[in-house]
Amino acid sequence: MKIIAHRGLSGFYPENTMLAFKKCLNLNIYGIELDVQKTKDNQLVVIHDEKVDRTFNGTGYIKDMTLKEIQTLNSSFKNYENNKDCKIPTLKEVLLLFKPTNFIINIELKNNKIKYKNLEEDVINLVKELKMERKVIISSFRMKTLNKLKAISPKVPRSYLISEKFYKYRLKNMIFYRAIKNDSTYISPNYLISDKKFINKCHRRDIQVLCYGVNTIEEYEKLLKLKVDGIFTDFPNILSSIN
Ligand code: G3P
Repeated sequence: MKIIAHRGLSGFYPENTMLAFKKCLNLNIYGIELDVQKTKDNQLVVIHDEKVDRTFNGTGYIKDMTLKEIQTLNSSFKNYENNKDCKIPTLKEVLLLFKPTNFIINIELKNNKIKYKNLEEDVINLVKELKMERKVIISSFRMKTLNKLKAISPKVPRSYLISEKFYKYRLKNMIFYRAIKNDSTYISPNYLISDKKFINKCHRRDIQVLCYGVNTIEEYEKLLKLKVDGIFTDFPNILSSIN
């Protein structure tokens, strides 16, 4: 089972920060997952929300701030407010951290709420500049984004994310056929909507299933029995020890 650290070791450290990613380096896991947004001056930065408010000591949208402004913010995670490794990193910084390792980096493009101009192109260009095409998976909840990625760089693996709203089999089926048409290597559903029939169907067409939101041993064991290919978890240290 592939264990992927969701936003780094985010169960213990501030999510999507260099500290949370560095804490994964010694773990025996498949890779890490991170989220990408774009600043006012077109810089790719790693943060989950469109706004800084939940995780940093500031307020406002990433799209309205420059990289310089963003880098002045500190984490609002208790006891990590003054930690220099707990700022908002650039995508380049995180990719360079993992470049010398065997880790796979799942880059989620967060353009489902804000349509950042050229987000797909900018991410692919950076991945190519760093020669990391074989070390990344690019995921999105938007098929339009995945189709654009296929057009600009067909060989970089893509993953179609499915939220729990798609729990009905009919809806999952629709996602499945879109993923087939896109030649997605992976489908990444919320673990709550993963069922045997759907997983088998994906496997018959060589699509791997990576479930997200898996944070307990019980959930992990259930998915192991269903033969999912991998999971995203906030506790990769715990789940990798029983893997
Ligand atoms: O990429 C898996 C998972 O992170 C998707 O959900 O809300 O964390 O972006 P979310």
